[in-house]
Amino acid sequence: MTVVALVPAAGRGERLGLGVSKAFVEVAGRPLVAHAAAALFAGGVDRVVVAVSASDWDLAQEVLGDHCMVVLGGSDRTSSVAAALSHAGDDARIILVHDAARAFTPPELVRRVIDAVRNGADAVVPVLPVTDTIRRLGPADTELADGSSGGIVDRDTLRAVQTPQGFRAEVLRRAHAAARPAGATDDAALAEALGTVVSFVAGDAEAGKITHSDDLTIARALHESPTMRIGSGLDVHPIEPGRACRLAGLEFPDDDGCAGHSDGDVAAHALCDALLSAAGLGDLGSVFGTDDPRWDGASGLDLLAEVMNRLRTARFEVVNATVQIIANTPRIAARRVEAAQVLTAAIGAPISVSATTTDGLGLTGRGEGRAAQATALVRQV
Ligand code: CTP
Ligand code: MG
Repeated sequence: MTVVALVPAAGRGERLGLGVSKAFVEVAGRPLVAHAAAALFAGGVDRVVVAVSASDWDLAQEVLGDHCMVVLGGSDRTSSVAAALSHAGDDARIILVHDAARAFTPPELVRRVIDAVRNGADAVVPVLPVTDTIRRLGPADTELADGSSGGIVDRDTLRAVQTPQGFRAEVLRRAHAAARPAGATDDAALAEALGTVVSFVAGDAEAGKITHSDDLTIARALHESPTMRIGSGLDVHPIEPGRACRLAGLEFPDDDGCAGHSDGDVAAHALCDALLSAAGLGDLGSVFGTDDPRWDGASGLDLLAEVMNRLRTARFEVVNATVQIIANTPRIAARRVEAAQVLTAAIGAPISVSATTTDGLGLTGRGEGRAAQATALVRQV
């Protein structure tokens, strides 16, 4: 029993408003219509006929030509389906009609629809219960013309209709050959107008139609894995008696600060390096050359602000970061939360600050200097 699927993909995608046909908008590196076709094949369809607009003809051949038959669609969905139907082939016994915009339909739903037709149904429609309260209103969300209130509709009798819809081939051919009944917006309604009994199977929320930009945002969040990158940074400075102490963006008036080109804030510097390395944007030395007078005496927070500018320009955002300070002084414990807040504000992402000593060992243990190490996770946006 040859199963053929017709995919109307000739719409303009006006509600999505991207200026390109919705079916060819890409998610996870593939146009929606290619996802839809892949789900149909995975669900047991033998051939797929896709109806596209003339302006997408070349692109459609390129992305679908190997697997699908591509035909010219019409000026509305029904005529696009009719155009595809005329190329379904005489051997087609079961015909599915499936919106390109329902790109992430699970193959199990496709299989459910095919099985129902195989088991004797003339026409099969996947449906979902309506979960929102539904209210009848007039244009622009005004009261109904008669001013009646209580326009709540009993949702127990309502179902949202999805695709793929499945048909015995002759039933669909007859339905499209007949005059179109007023108000029929899908193929099942055409068949029903000729007296065909329509059967129902459970739909699937994942088969939802991508209509508005929010739908696309959700599809991308679910199906695209963000590029994450990790980076680490380390900084060490000698302590210089008499110099103001700045660490993790805070002033510590009772302690000596660190020598160095800027304010000697090892925590902020280590964090800068972690962020730059995560984003692959170089390191502190290459970004803030020691001979560049602009950064003489710059605070660690100034450097962080510039690093964040560079990350944003390169389209990265920070997921989270950590900084560990390695020093005998100052005592960080009492101001750890404050330090985390200041650094969090600087990078716009959660950051945790910790501190340790080296038990008297090494340059930090002898109190000659301070060190900090940092880790940052960034995401391409
Ligand atoms: N469709 C079609 N031919 C048309 C109009 C629509 O093949 N002349 C297809 C669309 O490509 C889509 C499906 O029918 O796969 C469902 O239509 P819809 O979600 O309304 O898509 P668009 O018409 O593209 O979107 P809009 O209404 O926002 O312009
Ligand atoms: Mg439309």
